[in-house]
Amino acid sequence: MIAVMTTLSPSASVSTATDPLQLIDVDHVRFYVGNAKQSAFFYASAFGFQVEQIADLTTGSRDRAMYLLTQGNIRIVLESSLTKDGIAAREATQFGDGVKDIALTVFDAEKAWKQAVKNGGESAYEPKTWSDEHGSVTFAGIKTYGRAVHTFVSRTGAYGLPTVKNGGTFMPGFRKVENFALNAYNKANPCGLKYVDHAVGNVEEGKMNHWVKWYEEVLGFAMFKHFDDKDIGTEYSALMSKVMASGNHLIKMPINEPAEGKKKSQIQEYLDWHDNTPGVQHLALRTDDELHSITELRRRGVDFLTIPDAYYETVWNRVDKMLTEHGHQVVKEDHKAVKDLGILVDADDEGYLLQLFTKPLQDRPTLFFEIICRRGSQSFGKGNFKALFESLEIEQGRRGNL
Ligand code: FE2
Repeated sequence: MIAVMTTLSPSASVSTATDPLQLIDVDHVRFYVGNAKQSAFFYASAFGFQVEQIADLTTGSRDRAMYLLTQGNIRIVLESSLTKDGIAAREATQFGDGVKDIALTVFDAEKAWKQAVKNGGESAYEPKTWSDEHGSVTFAGIKTYGRAVHTFVSRTGAYGLPTVKNGGTFMPGFRKVENFALNAYNKANPCGLKYVDHAVGNVEEGKMNHWVKWYEEVLGFAMFKHFDDKDIGTEYSALMSKVMASGNHLIKMPINEPAEGKKKSQIQEYLDWHDNTPGVQHLALRTDDELHSITELRRRGVDFLTIPDAYYETVWNRVDKMLTEHGHQVVKEDHKAVKDLGILVDADDEGYLLQLFTKPLQDRPTLFFEIICRRGSQSFGKGNFKALFESLEIEQGRRGNL
C-alpha cells in the first residue's frame, strides 16, 4: 500500500498575510488540576521546572490557586479551585488533571478574539483586563475542540512577554516564589527543555476534518502534514492525524482521530477516559540535546514508554538510508546511548529527529509529554508510529483497555 502524505514547504506560508491574528508566542499552557500545590512539586521534581510565581490566598486570590512553572520558553500555569464550584474543580473531577488552555500571545487580545469570532469561532469568554501601575494583561478566549480553549493574551508595560521571560511578574496578582529548594536544584541540574514544539488534540472519529477546517477558518492556520491509518497503525489499532500550523509556524497543532483496527485505538482510549470529550493528548517539549534530557529525566524517575529491543535492529538502516539519500549527515548521537535510553529516531528529506514519550502524567490514561529534538526534520516521527503503537498496545493491554 502506498502511504499518502502531503507536505507544505515550511517556507511556503511565512507571512503575516497568512497569520491574520499575528500570533507572537505560546503565552502559556494552562492545566486544570486537582491540587496545584502538589502538581507543582511533581512537575518541578520530575521535569525540572522552576516553580517561579504563585497566586493564591496569600496574594488575595480567594477562589483559585495558580502556579507559574517555567523552563526555557515554556510557561505552564497549574490552576486548582479553592471552592467546590470552581471550574477547575469541576473539570478536574470530570476529566482528571489536564490541559485546559493553550494561550497565545498577540498584539491585541480583544481584536484577535473579535476576528476569531467573526471567522466562525465560538467565544469561551469575553475580553477581560487586569492592570496596575506597572502595566496590563488582557485575556479573551475562544473554544476549540472539546473542553479546550485558546486564550489570546496581550500584554503592556512591565507585563510584556520579554520581561516575563526574564523573570518579570506574569500578571497582576502573582508574586515570586521564594526559597523553594527544588528551584536551586533544577538550576544546577537542568533538564534542557526549551519550548512547546507542538500540542496534539484528540477528537472523535470522523471529526478530524471538521477541526482542520476550524483551524484554517478561525485561526488562519494551514495544513502542515497529514498521516492516515496506513501510516500510523498496526494490525490492531490506528489513528489518523493532520498537523495544523499557524501562518508563522510558531505553533503546530496536530489533530488526531481514532481509526478502525482490530483493537481499540489509543485515541479512543483517551476519549473513553476523558468523559468522551476531545482534549489535548500531548505536549511536545523541545530540547537541543535529547540524550542529556532523557538521561536527566530518567534519573528523576520520569516514566517513559518502553521501546521494544527489536526496534533498534532496523532503525539505523532505515534512518541513515533516508539521510544519505537526501545528502544529510547520518545520526551523530551515539547509537548505543540512544538504544540504552530507549529513544526513538526518525528521518525525512530534511533531516532527522529524536523523540520519546512519557507514560500518562496522571492516573487516567490521558495527557502525556513528548521530549523531542530536531536535527533538520520538521515532521513528527511517522516512521516510529508502528514501533510506538506496538509499545503502546502493550501498555494498553496492561491497563485492560485493548
Ligand atoms: Fe508529538
